[in-house]
Amino acid sequence: MRWSIGVVWAAALMSIPTEAADSSTYFDAETGFTFAQFNGLFQIGKGILYRVAVPSPVPANASYDVVFQIVAPIAVGWTGLAWGGGMVRSPLTVTWQNGQTVTIGSRYATGHSMPSVYPNAVYTKFKTGTKVNSTHWQVTAKCSGCSTFIGSTNSQVTLPPKGVNRLAFAESNSKPATPSSSTSTFNVHDVTNSFTADFASAGNTEFAALVAKNGEATN
Ligand code: HEM
Ligand SMILES: *[C@@H]1O[C@H](CO)[C@@H](O)[C@H](O)[C@H]1NC(C)=O
Ligand SMILES: *[C@@H]1O[C@H](CO)[C@@H](O)[C@H](O)[C@H]1NC(C)=O
Repeated sequence: MRWSIGVVWAAALMSIPTEAADSSTYFDAETGFTFAQFNGLFQIGKGILYRVAVPSPVPANASYDVVFQIVAPIAVGWTGLAWGGGMVRSPLTVTWQNGQTVTIGSRYATGHSMPSVYPNAVYTKFKTGTKVNSTHWQVTAKCSGCSTFIGSTNSQVTLPPKGVNRLAFAESNSKPATPSSSTSTFNVHDVTNSFTADFASAGNTEFAALVAKNGEATN
């Protein structure tokens, strides 16, 4: 009796994060990544799942790649992540359905207007974990350049790989002008919100092996 109470208590203590985050931990059996997951509501009762995975360990102050996964209801026109927690001076990952696959666009804005194409974040879309069915589209990709960037204070920021980081998402109900093109124009979002993601809960010791295993999408 005393033993089992002690185990439950110890387990509860270990699962308390250093700061409360809006994310929960999600293991994706298909790709093998462990993610910090957030369900971003864009309508009453309708959400988009945003998932972030990081390598573990990451050397102190080193830049590092992230893997993200987005699962969006088919009605979503485009959706994206702002890695700095707001639209301005933050790598913007923009994603939308393109037939049976998903396009990823890289953007960066210095004001609240149509963001520019951003070459400093480079994406590798995975073959496994990127798909479309009758109800949802889903994309899984690696980003090099999403976790280190020139931030809102105009100096270089690296998101702490063991920290609770404030990210933001945006959602639009309308589709981009040219869905096949990663540099397509698109209309402004209908919904934005920020959330905190516990990167410490999203560490993957087999990060590089999982990136290799999931393969690069050819479409
Ligand atoms: C046509 C492109 C875009 C236009 C014209 C635009 C415009 C704006 C404007 C005017 C605001 C401030 C007022 C408001 O909240 O409505 C805003 C906020 C915001 N936008 Fe955009 N946006 C665009 C694209 C994007 C993209 C691609 C993302 C992310 C992937 C994004 C993320 C956000 C977020 C998170 C906020 C709220 C926090 C903040 O003000 O930084 N936006 N946007
Ligand atoms: C990381 O870099 C910042 C700014 O250069 C410095 O203040 C901090 O001490 C560094 N942290 C570690 C763990 O090296
Ligand atoms: C469609 O895809 C979504 C996201 O990948 C998944 O959650 C859902 O179960 C799929 N639906 C069907 C009918 O396979």
